[in-house]
Amino acid sequence: MEEQKKILCVGLVCLDIINVVNNYPEEDTDSRCLSQRWQRGGNASNSCTVLSLLGASCAFMGSLSPGPVANFILEDFQKFCIDVSLLTEHAQCNLPTSVVISNISTGSRTILHMNRNLPDVTAEDFAKVDLRQFKWIHWEGRNAEEQVKMIQQVEMFNKMLPQQQRITISVEIEKTREPLYQLFPYGDVVFVSKDVARHFGFHSAEAALKGLYGRVKQGAVLVCAWAEKGADALGPDGLIVHSDAFPPETILDTLGAGDTFNAAVIYTLSKGGSLNDAVKFGCRVAGRKCGFHGYDGIRDMLTDEELKI
Ligand code: ADP
Ligand code: FRU
Repeated sequence: MEEQKKILCVGLVCLDIINVVNNYPEEDTDSRCLSQRWQRGGNASNSCTVLSLLGASCAFMGSLSPGPVANFILEDFQKFCIDVSLLTEHAQCNLPTSVVISNISTGSRTILHMNRNLPDVTAEDFAKVDLRQFKWIHWEGRNAEEQVKMIQQVEMFNKMLPQQQRITISVEIEKTREPLYQLFPYGDVVFVSKDVARHFGFHSAEAALKGLYGRVKQGAVLVCAWAEKGADALGPDGLIVHSDAFPPETILDTLGAGDTFNAAVIYTLSKGGSLNDAVKFGCRVAGRKCGFHGYDGIRDMLTDEELKI
């Protein structure tokens, strides 16, 4: 029964229009791309893709505005067997879109994002969710004030249950926006980005973990990924665990590397793996992801052993 429970990711789904180039363009020039594609994007949505590729049952909760682009997105969710029954459609809104320049000579991804008017999930929407179907809920930090209220609903639900049946709560604090920092004390697992760490004046993952750990709740785990430097995590035992990055032979596409890392960490911990295993697996899967375009390649590259954690 516990095994069949799903992992829910709450956050953004958007359209990524990806332009693959050999060299980053000069301003006010006219150049050809190597290729161009549409991809379903958004942190929570990308993490669902990876969870699903790793073999976890997962669900996405977020907003969508109906139309041809939404159909493309829904079909893609379906392709990855991601449960979208908690998606809310908002008519008369624009679907958030990113134009991405993906440079294969460096692997860099430059994102221009626009979200005009699509509302985020509210605590009122969340109150209708049957929490019994989930073993883990992950929030991509966005409308933090509402997200705190959602998390409090889960905390209330958890109080009625024995320890081993409780829902694990994770949050991602990726953007350097002051309101997001109120999420620190709400996750059992908190992902903080390099950008946020730097914003607080830290120059390494280890320094960030030591400096920010005081903000998380008692017993929580704080995780910080640092691109080609790998990732670190700190739990209640006070020991920092570190994994080096696993760079592929050629770095092709780093779009969604962080979302991939988060998914692989959540996957490992949700299966009872150690923090050390989780951070290492996160870096392995994210590193492999950087070696090809999109996410599809992840599954083929994992051995049965890795999927069994
Ligand atoms: P994002 O910028 O997408 O949020 P991060 O920079 O936080 O992603 O990286 C997440 C993880 O992805 C890192 O911990 C690392 O394991 C892997 N990764 C990202 N960039 C690289 C890279 N250039 N080389 C190797 N691994 C990388
Ligand atoms: C990658 C991503 C993209 C999206 C952008 C939104 O992490 O989720 O898919 O366009 O970030 O900020």
